[in-house]
Amino acid sequence: MDCRVVRQDFPELMVRGVAYLDSAASSLKPRSVIEAMVAFMERSYANVHRGVYSISMEASRAYEEAHEIVARFINARSWDEVVFVKNTTEALQLLALTLAFNNVIGRGDEIIVTEADHHSNILPWVRVARMVGARVKLLPVDGNGVPRWELLEEMVGERTRVVAFGHASNVTGYVSDARRVARIAHSVGALVAVDGAQSVPHMKVDVRDLEIDFLAFSGHKMLGPTGIGVLWGRRDLLENLEPPLGGGGTVKRVRLGDRGVSVEWDELPWRFEAGTPPIVEAVGLAEAVSYLEKLGMENVESHERRLTEYTLKRLEELGGEIRVLGPRDPKVKLGIVAFNVGNVDPSMVGLWLDQHGVAVRTGLHCAHILHDRLGAPHGSVRASFYIYNCPEDVDKLAESIEELLKTIA
Ligand code: ALA
Repeated sequence: MDCRVVRQDFPELMVRGVAYLDSAASSLKPRSVIEAMVAFMERSYANVHRGVYSISMEASRAYEEAHEIVARFINARSWDEVVFVKNTTEALQLLALTLAFNNVIGRGDEIIVTEADHHSNILPWVRVARMVGARVKLLPVDGNGVPRWELLEEMVGERTRVVAFGHASNVTGYVSDARRVARIAHSVGALVAVDGAQSVPHMKVDVRDLEIDFLAFSGHKMLGPTGIGVLWGRRDLLENLEPPLGGGGTVKRVRLGDRGVSVEWDELPWRFEAGTPPIVEAVGLAEAVSYLEKLGMENVESHERRLTEYTLKRLEELGGEIRVLGPRDPKVKLGIVAFNVGNVDPSMVGLWLDQHGVAVRTGLHCAHILHDRLGAPHGSVRASFYIYNCPEDVDKLAESIEELLKTIA
């Protein structure tokens, strides 16, 4: 994979010429995704599953095909295990609500998440636990912000209903061994939910190989548009669950009888996709998946690992004022490097980098507990990589930080 060739497919990079190092927040879009969405809106757009006229049938087919393409990408057993939602946050929210609504989680039950998790995988569980009288327990992290999975065996018990965790940290990039976690959780009959927002776009994620039960991820972080995300769930689990959100498109039949309104829910996945779904966005996501598949996820991962290794080396060369958060071994992490520059406020570093043509994210990255544990309560500067980044982007970052160090010396 040649990043210099890949870059040409991304119009925003060509127009703006920045070193875009913020793909963990959202990725840029290749021309093919933009064009697929425009072509669909210009020629084939109509609502789905609500008409017998040919354009609606065509749109429905494209929408269904997007489910199939995504299902193959994560090696789901069948296409109808894929539910389209708005983003990872909504997918995890929908899952937590569904499990509470169906009494899978109830009073006195326990849910385990980790201190390394993004708020998207903490707050939905905390809210649902408060609603039903369950308890959320946080698996601690070590000094590098790595979840202490060796403690999981003693944390789980007969009341554990769910173990939910981020596959890859959005701050340290550390990748947890999902299969190992799944086996421990399953040994006590708990369900395993994985927040794949930072892993699915960057490495091969095979839901069967990982032996997990649920997976959530976002389209916009993997070359697709905003407004679409995925909740994948094992078919045998999903088909026994009622959706917490009812509405258009979720039912086979609604009747008014002597006992009031009765509902016969639709097949999977439609019963979980209430209202008009993200149709154009699904077409964009399908195209994004095709683009990634052409590159090969193994190549995507190894390219980003090389950039991470190079970044760690360049930052280390800048001396002791640079503090990298999390493990420094590129083999255990994906393309994310969070750091601080002396005592300079991360947002000031971000503004400085912007003036030098480098786009990074700064702040607490929706992971406040993790930053507290890492001794960085004011946040960090985060550089994150994707297929269109080249070593020159890292050079630009390192040279700009070097300049900054000179001004504060
Ligand atoms: N969750 C995204 C990030 O970490 C927005 O930046």
